[in-house]
Amino acid sequence: MSYKLLFVCLGNICRSPAAENIMRYKIEQVGLSEPIVCDSAGTSSYHIGSPPDSRMSAAALQKLQIKLRGKARQFQKSDFENFDLILAMDRDNYEDILHLDPTGKYHQKVHLICDFCSRHNLKEVPDPYYGGAEGFNLVIDLLVDACEGLLKYLSR
Ligand code: 4NP
Repeated sequence: MSYKLLFVCLGNICRSPAAENIMRYKIEQVGLSEPIVCDSAGTSSYHIGSPPDSRMSAAALQKLQIKLRGKARQFQKSDFENFDLILAMDRDNYEDILHLDPTGKYHQKVHLICDFCSRHNLKEVPDPYYGGAEGFNLVIDLLVDACEGLLKYLSR
């Protein structure tokens, strides 16, 4: 059985698809023996069916030479059962996810992704949607740091 990771942001077109694809890239780089499945979702319904934002894709291509794949979907309650670890990009995402689990049964599966960073001190991945290219570049830097930490955590 494979271990399953779900990355979650608001729209599922910028931060969480970048996280999903960066994590997959990092897993390929180290060649893990155990399979790890990566997926992503948004807490909102705003962009259901959309591909990753072109500005996010451009930043991933420029900084890491990777293409972002995916199609936005909304987080759903069944994701609590279907995934082992749910990684929220910011505190709003974290709270919105926990709201869907009123009994707290899955609370321990949900984490802020920046808790896995070791080189950055930011506690959230800032929403880049209404800003410029530097915001998208920061998302990539934070997610590389977090995904490397996540990989170390999973390798133990
Ligand atoms: P994401 O970015 O949550 O990283 O995918 C956003 C995408 C869309 C919107 C906000 C943030 N929006 O308001 O439409």
